[in-house]
Amino acid sequence: MSATRLSEAHAAIDLAEPIDLRDRKAEHIRLALDRRMQFDSHPFDAWRFGHEALPELDWDDIDLSTEFLGRKLEAPLLISCMTGGTEIAGRINRHLAIAAEATGVAVGVGSQRKALEDPARAESFRVRDLAPSVPLLANLGAVQLNYGIGLDGCRRAVDMIGADALVFHLNPLQEAIQPEGQRNFSGLLDKMAAVAAQLPVPVIVKEVGSGLSAATGRALAERGFRIVDTAGVGGTSWARIEAARAGDAAVGELFAGWGIDTPASIQALASVREGGGLFIIGSGGLRNGLDAAKAFALGAHLVGMAYPFLEAATESPERVEAAIRKVVRELKIAMFCLGARTPRDLTRALLERFASEPVPDAFRAQSPRSRLE
Ligand code: FNR
Repeated sequence: MSATRLSEAHAAIDLAEPIDLRDRKAEHIRLALDRRMQFDSHPFDAWRFGHEALPELDWDDIDLSTEFLGRKLEAPLLISCMTGGTEIAGRINRHLAIAAEATGVAVGVGSQRKALEDPARAESFRVRDLAPSVPLLANLGAVQLNYGIGLDGCRRAVDMIGADALVFHLNPLQEAIQPEGQRNFSGLLDKMAAVAAQLPVPVIVKEVGSGLSAATGRALAERGFRIVDTAGVGGTSWARIEAARAGDAAVGELFAGWGIDTPASIQALASVREGGGLFIIGSGGLRNGLDAAKAFALGAHLVGMAYPFLEAATESPERVEAAIRKVVRELKIAMFCLGARTPRDLTRALLERFASEPVPDAFRAQSPRSRLE
């Protein structure tokens, strides 16, 4: 990698720089950084670990390494797919990629649709040179299969970045609220399966914040999909983000918590037996290593986070790296105090569920309009 490429990749982003607000990607980044776009209640708080005062374990023997898509990870973590297509998005992707490589975790890019239509935008997604050894995920909305993107487009998205897998995101709620939403979701299972059968890399199917049910997991497993990502309720609320863009705060509030919360979605997918079961990425509202430990105990094989790395990524790769290391340390602390040497040793038996959900926080009492002003 050239010195210029590296120093460019390290450049911080001045979010006070004028951003073209007609650009959807720029708007998504700006809104996603606003804490009010996070769902108010945190479903992982309903779960609590016990404690093992006699873990019979040496901290130094804790092993977080795992294999994903044929590559070795230092920790079972994915920086969830977020962005690309603009100059700022490109810098975010580069910061994420450098940090992923430094810490040995997987990283995804955001929807590449715009770059398929306009090759000038492809550069902002190309981070393989910065993350040569970790799994790198390409991304497209599955609904695009009904709007002109076919096998060739999917292949081009993968080749564009040298990806190890293609992620199809399912986002019916987002498309339903988005003013310019693409809402023909018919026949997508067949179309995704047809692409997956011919693509040279695995296909991962994820939501974007409303979770995957057991029925969806079963349908995907029966069609040969092996890797799914919950992206459940509890974190970034696309209902709020799209409603804010549309100036329709009320619908954003009505659907802010729509869907399946992440702990429930992980458990639902873990119950799928069809096709030999699923490899589950637990994501959606994970905010620290303790949430990650709970996700593993509920059945996840890998965990993903988007929002916790976004703000850091607007600044520098070092800040993203620090955020990753913090999560990893917290996960390790939880494992140590449970006597778990590997994430696989974290089991449902170690977790207790409270009878009631935590009470949503105070700002939920405000009127929907004041929340978004
Ligand atoms: C996203 N997410 C997302 N997902 C996807 O598959 N393709 C995409 O293009 C995007 N774009 C995107 C932009 C921004 C700014 C954010 C914050 C998120 C969704 C993301 O991958 C994840 O599923 C959700 O954000 C839920 O995880 P968190 O944020 O609660 O950790």
